[in-house]
Amino acid sequence: RTTELDSICLKAEVIPVLAIQRLEDAVPLATALVEGGLSVLEVTLRTDCALEAVRRIKAALPQASVGVGTVLTPAQYRQAEEVEADFVVTPGATAALYRHGVSSPVPMLPGVTTVSEVMSGWQHGYRRFKFFPAEASGGVKTLKAFAGPLPEARFCPTGGITLENAEDYLALKNVMCVGGTWLTPQSLVDAEDWHGIRQLAREAAERFHH
Ligand code: 3PG
Repeated sequence: RTTELDSICLKAEVIPVLAIQRLEDAVPLATALVEGGLSVLEVTLRTDCALEAVRRIKAALPQASVGVGTVLTPAQYRQAEEVEADFVVTPGATAALYRHGVSSPVPMLPGVTTVSEVMSGWQHGYRRFKFFPAEASGGVKTLKAFAGPLPEARFCPTGGITLENAEDYLALKNVMCVGGTWLTPQSLVDAEDWHGIRQLAREAAERFHH
């Protein structure tokens, strides 16, 4: 599990978070991000067409790793399995999700903000977590403090990450990657400005390349 998630995160230090409003935007948007250098994507289940969008993106861009985000229930987790998501991201975690994730073919990155939540995930066998909402939960300071009692846990902070603050997170040794919606501004998507999206992705990819 940990190895699978690590190999996905090794492909990119920055994971764009997509909330796809119009199904026809899915492939051109994902293509622009991948061409810009970001090949790990999270498609959130916040819109009705999300699952079909994942299907299409995976078919069009087999080189990309496509996760399903905003998974709140085991039923949604199963939907992510059906579309062969590469990983699942949850904003928080419940015992039901933890149990489901342990035996699922698709690895899960559970959302946490406290030491207790990490400890509870740890008991279920989880070692990699999403730290959400990162900025609102103390950001870099909190993650730095986590490294004392939880030296082996690794995090992907999301929620309030930007090109400007990403570097401070990525400098922490318990941060493996960061995620966010700043790479997919709705104004550019609405304008079908795929060139603009590609530029944003390229800027992030160049700045944070391993
Ligand atoms: C997520 O689900 O990861 C967050 O909504 C991303 O947060 P952001 O919009 O602040 O980047």
